[in-house]
Amino acid sequence: MNLTVVGAGYIGLVTSLCFSEVGYNVFCVDVDQNKIQNLKKGISNIYEPQLERILHSNISSQKIHFFDNLKATEAHSSLYFITVGTPLNSNNEADLTQVFSTVEQIALLNNPKKLVVIKSTVPPGTLQLLKEKYKNKDIEFVSNPEFIREGSAFSDCMNPDRIIIGTDSKSATQTLFEVYKPFVKNPKSIIYMDPASAELTKYAANIMLASKISLMNEFSRICEKTGANIDSVEIGIASDQRIGPHFLKAGLGYGGSCFPKDIHSFITLGKQLNEDLLVSKAVAQTNDFQIERFAKKIIDHVQKPQKVTLWGASFKPETNDTREAPAIKIIQKLLEQKFEVNIYDPAANQSISHCFEKHPQFKSLHFFNDQYEALTNCQYLVICTEWKQFASADLEKMKSKSSQLHIFDGRNIFSLEDLKKKNISYYSIGRPQ
Ligand code: UDX
Repeated sequence: MNLTVVGAGYIGLVTSLCFSEVGYNVFCVDVDQNKIQNLKKGISNIYEPQLERILHSNISSQKIHFFDNLKATEAHSSLYFITVGTPLNSNNEADLTQVFSTVEQIALLNNPKKLVVIKSTVPPGTLQLLKEKYKNKDIEFVSNPEFIREGSAFSDCMNPDRIIIGTDSKSATQTLFEVYKPFVKNPKSIIYMDPASAELTKYAANIMLASKISLMNEFSRICEKTGANIDSVEIGIASDQRIGPHFLKAGLGYGGSCFPKDIHSFITLGKQLNEDLLVSKAVAQTNDFQIERFAKKIIDHVQKPQKVTLWGASFKPETNDTREAPAIKIIQKLLEQKFEVNIYDPAANQSISHCFEKHPQFKSLHFFNDQYEALTNCQYLVICTEWKQFASADLEKMKSKSSQLHIFDGRNIFSLEDLKKKNISYYSIGRPQ
């Protein structure tokens, strides 16, 4: 099978590589010539477990080919997967410019019977708009939202818990079934529906998960005021099968390229449809508040500007992605108060440094290649990301670098007892201090 993937970002690159892993000939297109040149050489700017190995092996087996323009792929395939970005615009709507311009370019190609699969997250109704606009062209459209997570993108993509196919075309349904057959053990994991429902399913899934996180964060505030422990509450509700055990970790809230963007564009969609989406709004507000509250706790405790060490800058472990990372807001707040900040992240030092390179106090940020070195002569440690190497850190070694250590743990990675035994001041979220 030959297919073209347009957009070599996170989703596009991982999807392309998974398609080439199962033996398809994949033509991956991106307008960023520099990115394409690097990908041809096996270099990716994304850190994702397994990515480098899979990229190299599929380049060697000539299953994946990179291009900087769609025209170059015209002779090879009529099946297009669109994975370009849909960032928030200044009105907090999903900006569909890249999706529309990609479809326009595809429409101008000469190959017949094109099938365009929209994987980018787009508001319900987008596919219908495209169908109407191109009704005189030989193009069919399918909505096929993507649910892969950063940090476990390859295993999610190779073993999806479900594939959503939104179309009313029988032939498109059949083609997509063939594409995804190697990825599903049970054909029932492929769920067919109308395009608008498929488009909405993506928003619904993300907002449902984000709302679990915000609710746990809300409960954690009550824990702190009443002596309850959010860890126990989590265990207590996770065993209720109607609630389930996932996405119940209280902490600094959600970040990343999807949840914040999708919730805001969904709230805007509601406004445009004259629907006030109260729950979605509260989920977003709670998430912002959670970070502000934590930053205030640090600043109130430390009192005067001092040096603070930050462990973790990426929005979650196993990625170098700092988009909407809670660490960004925490660093901003600390800089506002004239703190010096030592930063260590196993993968995201460079990316967090880019976020602040134009900040007037950039010189107050100091980057380290070793987590313990970052602690040297610094009394305060703030944990923003739950990388495994932080949870298994050597507490004695930490103490040797910093006498009188105070830890503000935004991800609840340490056990209360261990810290008590070591006589380290410890502030976590929703747990007895
Ligand atoms: C998410 C969706 O899970 C995925 O289906 C979609 O395709 C893209 O958006 P991702 O952004 O990679 O994936 O991260 P995910 O693992 O879902 O975590 C999102 C955020 O929630 C992270 O910032 C994480 O730290 C936070 N989180 C997650 C919590 O705060 N508590 C939890 O219990 C779980």
